[in-house]
Amino acid sequence: MKKILFVASEAVPFIKTGGLADVVGSLPKYFDKEQYDIRVMIPKYLCIKQEWRDKMNYVTHFYMNLAWRSQYVGVLEMEYEGIKFYFIDNEYYFAGPKPYGNIYEDIEKFAFFSKAAISALPSLNFRPDIIHCHDWQTGLVPVFLNDSFQNNPFFQGIKTVMTIHNLKFQGIWDVKTVKDITGLNASYFTPDKLEAYGDANYLKGGIVYADAVTTVSETYAEEIKMPYYGEHLDGLLRARSNSLRGIVNGIDYNEYNPETDKFLAHNYNAVNFRKEKVKNKTALQEELGLTVDPKKMMIGIVSRLTDQKGFDLIAYVMDELCQDEIQIVVLGTGEERYENMFRHFAWKYQGKVSANIFYSEAMSHKIYGSCDAFLMPSLFEPCGLSQLMSLRYGTVPIVRETGGLKDTVQPYNEYESTGTGFSFTNYNAHEMMNTVRYAERIYYDRKREWNKIVDRAMAADFSWDNSAKKYAEMYDWLAG
Ligand code: ADP
Ligand code: GLC
Repeated sequence: MKKILFVASEAVPFIKTGGLADVVGSLPKYFDKEQYDIRVMIPKYLCIKQEWRDKMNYVTHFYMNLAWRSQYVGVLEMEYEGIKFYFIDNEYYFAGPKPYGNIYEDIEKFAFFSKAAISALPSLNFRPDIIHCHDWQTGLVPVFLNDSFQNNPFFQGIKTVMTIHNLKFQGIWDVKTVKDITGLNASYFTPDKLEAYGDANYLKGGIVYADAVTTVSETYAEEIKMPYYGEHLDGLLRARSNSLRGIVNGIDYNEYNPETDKFLAHNYNAVNFRKEKVKNKTALQEELGLTVDPKKMMIGIVSRLTDQKGFDLIAYVMDELCQDEIQIVVLGTGEERYENMFRHFAWKYQGKVSANIFYSEAMSHKIYGSCDAFLMPSLFEPCGLSQLMSLRYGTVPIVRETGGLKDTVQPYNEYESTGTGFSFTNYNAHEMMNTVRYAERIYYDRKREWNKIVDRAMAADFSWDNSAKKYAEMYDWLAG
């Protein structure tokens, strides 16, 4: 039996700001329980809903040194859908309305969390063979583990994996402060270790010290070795390329299932979607105050509203696009200029554009389960889960060919009758618009063809089974 501990800053159903939470919360369920004991550790944020907090059980507490500070570490646990979750408690660090806030606070918060995660293990009666770290918030785990913990035989031989969900965020702060926060020796802050371009970099530490490095699609694993996508760490990633691999994300096929989804007005499946799915569209049109018309092509967007997701392309041609026979439904929060852009167009094109500038799981499911197409023209995309959810719900993705979007959406080919979506190559607003318009033509003029695209989209398999096997292979290889 191999023991694996996931350490991460978010996990569904407890706390989620993006796809990271979906992955950390769902992937552990898809391993063979006879062979792999996978547990998950996240912070016990004060902003986790009370109903979850009430179900957590106290395990232990102790005090831990973090440089010159001595800090309280509480550990709670809870079993959820067969997986054991641990929660690290410290109300000084994990208060606040959101998991992340100011970077200078987060830098100390996640140094604390990373060290606490390791320190808690002996008292949990759980010695993992592998600690699997996710994103910069846990980048210091392999570093700390390499440091003073090596004096204790309990920790010797534990292997680490660092998974990069988004290279854009690295946890960067000045060396002096990070030294003071972490208590790590000056020898760690050199360009071959934690230092990068004069600052301390948590993710870099993780990449340097982890035994294996993964990211969330094969294309992104290649892209980040090049300067354009490498976020200044492409050199290091090239140097570590023998230990770097891409494993594409899956989604929880039980959670995201049009046949049983409790958020949908009408459930449907790959056989009856032609008749049933459109009922969700008219229900959503009514709910959002859009013109009720089952025939109108509805395009959905569910996203963090940031540059990463290609919103400057959308902003650039939105007026033009709104001249077409389409409806656009947006759900998202993020940069104010994009929030206001969508509010503006919802006001300008009433009945046609709906701007939902908030976070809602229910609304996200309704959009996946109602729209005809889903737009995701990302500048870069490590994997992307929204397009996988769209495929599952027969909502045809229109994407830019980058990262995981390239690996998961097969472009429609009208001559061969293949493909599960539409895609374009260059980061160019008119190229995007032409692709949307091409999709419109198929939707309106060749409905049978369109429905076949939906058939293929719904038949595509992005459940976790395949990818979980690849992680399992990697664990076997690491832990022998
Ligand atoms: P990222 O992690 O970069 O934000 P992903 O596509 O991997 O992108 O994952 C995004 C996840 O967050 C999906 O589960 C998506 O449905 C969800 N999501 C994004 N914005 C919202 C929102 N405003 N309300 C509800 N869910 C959202
Ligand atoms: C990040 C990426 C996204 C990926 C998610 C889960 O948030 O932006 O592309 O799907 O992590 O791995």
